[in-house]
Formats: sequence, structure tokens, C-alpha cells
Amino acid sequence: MFLQGQHVLSIEQFSLEQVRALEQVRALFATAEKLEAVAAGKVTTRLLNGAILANLFFEASTRTRMSFHSAFSRLGGDISDTTGFSFSSISKGESLADTARVIAEYADVIVMRHPEQGSVAAFAKHSKTPVINGGDGAGEHPTQALLDLYTIRREFHKTGKKVGGTTIAMTGDLKNGRTVHSLSKLLALFDNMTFHFVSPNALPMPASIIEKLQAAGHTVKIFTDPVRGIQGADVIYCTRIQQERLGDSELSEHSDLFAIDKALIEGNAKADAVILHPLPRDTRDGAYDLSTDLDDDARLKIFTQAANGIPVRMALFVHCLGLENEVGKDFQPSPWAKIK
Ligand code: NCD
Repeated sequence: MFLQGQHVLSIEQFSLEQVRALEQVRALFATAEKLEAVAAGKVTTRLLNGAILANLFFEASTRTRMSFHSAFSRLGGDISDTTGFSFSSISKGESLADTARVIAEYADVIVMRHPEQGSVAAFAKHSKTPVINGGDGAGEHPTQALLDLYTIRREFHKTGKKVGGTTIAMTGDLKNGRTVHSLSKLLALFDNMTFHFVSPNALPMPASIIEKLQAAGHTVKIFTDPVRGIQGADVIYCTRIQQERLGDSELSEHSDLFAIDKALIEGNAKADAVILHPLPRDTRDGAYDLSTDLDDDARLKIFTQAANGIPVRMALFVHCLGLENEVGKDFQPSPWAKIK
């Protein structure tokens, strides 16, 4: 069964063969849709009764950490977690390999976020328990890409659009942002995509990703000007400048930083564009990010996108534990649902 007992480390593990990879993504999304009512708290299940998730976050997180936690809890499982290095034995010099060998015995699934690229894969090498990458430095964030695609498909469905053949503009720090790396690789599974990579000169999409997209027959256009970059886009995927991965002096050198705001969107975006952002967005004055002056724009789907993290992450757990055929068998209406 798809993903059973496997680690989820990179979108590249879906890219071995296009047709099969898309079938797998569709199967995962079908499970997520079945779990929507559980994700919303309308229905309860004990599917993961007795199972333990180790939720290991060595880098800042709100959505990813909490949505993995809520997803596992909603499925009836228990969570054991650790946040930051200071409360973990890694601060005493323990290696990732030893930590992995130990925690693999304590849990049935492990989610890990870590500031170093490649570290989650290095950890997973020593874990006999499935490890899900919750973000490894500037590397990848595969579960975010899956929930992004889930959101795109559901939003497109409302207007009868299909993903293949559409244009996605990705804006912001494309060099250090792991979400755009994973999402580009995932969208590459579809046919005939057009990618607009819109970033300051010094923060471009890595050449290795651009080369792969072009080799797969997709169109890639590079922009530093957001006005031209968002024109014609069916999806505008905004990202934050990853300040923690840049020195302050490096940041102030960029004179071509830009924000995505109301004036820009109203003058240039398609009427049916879907505006996304993995969040957090930087809402401080003068930040070069998605502006809050767009909050009333019906095209903005960032909070729906964040909420979609729950059913998609539930589906990942269900598939990793090989339980997709059991979903729905014990569903009960939740007695407290009406309160919400
Ligand atoms: C992103 C991340 O951590 O990569 N956030 C998230 O998981 N939703 C984006 C970011 O921090 O900019």
C-alpha cells in the first residue's frame, strides 16, 4: 500500500514515474477528503487508538507543529513532543543517529523539523519508524506542498479548472524558502505548467530545480518585477523573506525587495486568481511580504490553506500506518460539534 511503513522526506519520492505518482497523490487526497468531517471536529474516530506520534521540532513552528498534533489527536492517537534544542539531549552532544535509534522505539510515527538541510533524511536513516519531514532548513517541506496542492485543486474545482496547463507565480525568497522548492517539484508532475519565479535578484529559485522543470517540458519565466510576474497567473503563491537564513547585512543589500499588496493585485492579477501563502506572513510595517490590505479580497485563500493542513496530514498518517481501508468504519457524530 502507498506509503505504508515509509519515510516521507522529499517530494522527489513521488516523482519516480509521473502517472503512478499522480495516482498516489490522488489516493492520499481521497483519504483526506474522507477525513474532512473528522478534521473539522464534526465526527470522531479512534482509528489510531494507542498509537504514539513523536513530534520533534528543532526550529520555530506554529502551524506545522500544531496541525500535525491536532491531526494525530483527531485520529485518536497520543503525542509525545519536544520543541527546541535546549530541552533535548542533542544539547548534551547526542547525535541525530542516536536520537533516532531511541525515539524509533518510543513512537509509531515521527515528525521532525530541523534547521539543517538534509538533517531529517540523515535522522531517518537510523529510524525503523516512519519519519515525516516537517521542514529541513532551506531544503524541503513536502507535507506543506501536498496541502498546497490539495488547496489549489479544491479552489480550481469551484471554477472547473484543472491543474495541468495553468500558470503559477511564486514570489518572495525562492532561494531559501523550502515550501516553494517542494511545491515546484510537486506541480512538475502535471503536464504543461508555466512557472513564474518572481524574486529579488539575490534570492532566485535554485538552478537545479529550474533545470528539472525545463527538462520535464514546463515553461519557466524569471522576473524581478512583481507587476509583470503575477500577470496571467492562476495561482499567486507568496512567501516571506527567510530572514533567519540571511544575515541582516545581506538583507539590507537587496534594493529590489517588494510586497504583494492591494494596488499590485487589483491592477495586475486575474479575476479568478487564487492567492496563497504557507504562512507565517510578516505583518510588521514595511515588511516585504503579502500585505494585510488584501485581507478582504475574496481571492485570498491563506486561512483555508492553513486549515487544509489537518485533513492532509491525517491522510499522511493513515497511509504511513497502512490504514486507508479502515477510514470511516467507526465514525461517530461528535457530541460537542455544535458548539463551534
Ligand atoms: C513555512 C516553513 O516553515 O517553511 N511555514 C510553514 O511551515 N507553514 C514558511 C516560512 O516559514 O516562511
